Amino acid sequence: MLILNDLVKAFGGHRAVDGVSCSMERGRITGLIGPNGAGKTTLFNLIAGALKPTSGSISLDGHDISGRRADQVFQAGLARSFQIPRPFPEVTVLENVMLAPRGQTGETFWRNWLSPALVAAQERAVREKAMHWLEFVGLAALSGQPARVLSGGQRKLLEIARVMVSEPKLVLLDEPGAGVMAPCARRRLKRSQSRSRARAAVPVIATSKARTSGHPKVNGDQGEPRAANQPTAESAM
Ligand SMILES: Nc1ncnc2c1ncn2[C@@H]1O[C@H](COP(=O)(O)OP(=O)(O)OP(=O)(O)O)[C@@H](O)[C@H]1O
Ligand SMILES: [Mg+2]
Repeated sequence: MLILNDLVKAFGGHRAVDGVSCSMERGRITGLIGPNGAGKTTLFNLIAGALKPTSGSISLDGHDISGRRADQVFQAGLARSFQIPRPFPEVTVLENVMLAPRGQTGETFWRNWLSPALVAAQERAVREKAMHWLEFVGLAALSGQPARVLSGGQRKLLEIARVMVSEPKLVLLDEPGAGVMAPCARRRLKRSQSRSRARAAVPVIATSKARTSGHPKVNGDQGEPRAANQPTAESAM
């Protein structure tokens, strides 16, 4: 469903992403592992449309999405979390999650006047869905608090709720466990994985720091890493 083909991103003379090829299918969780500066976030930025690739291609469900804008990639069903989450600090935790779903009717100015009942019904449904994902990540008790009260780890969990509420086809999580207490992160990530598998739908790609030095590695679904200096995606079913 997501295919990366010889993807390159150069910043001046420095190739932060250097010829990454791999594919990810439904129901799979892929780990992208590498030390600081290895190119994990840059690869996510390319996939999510925040950066344009220098060369290579990205296809999602058979459509070439290389070089599309971030909002277009999001509308195509790809949701990503940020390594450093920046929720709206004065908006409640619940409202931060409610802002995320795609294609809300109330976003269209005239619809608010022409179909207020539809907008209200949709908002109720979005609220329920947002509460469901806040419960899932363990933040339901803080739903009415402004997001500024959240710790770094709780902001990471809010990111997961924000990503999942948009019902994406593909999820990119940039270091979702960073700053979250290890047992808690393990438990929640395990639950996300089994939920993802149960739905047999949402592929998840998550980055993580490797303790070794060097460039990132991707162990592609096809097997071994292609080169020592390239990201390694490890798949789990
Ligand atoms: N916009 C940019 N302009 C120039 N260089 C950049 C830019 N973004 C990233 N880089 C460089 O590209 C390399 C890869 O950075 P990236 O942030 O993708 O690494 P990372 O694997 O996510 O690291 P970390 O584990 O610290 O999050 C680094 O050398 C970084 O300095
Ligand atoms: Mg990073």
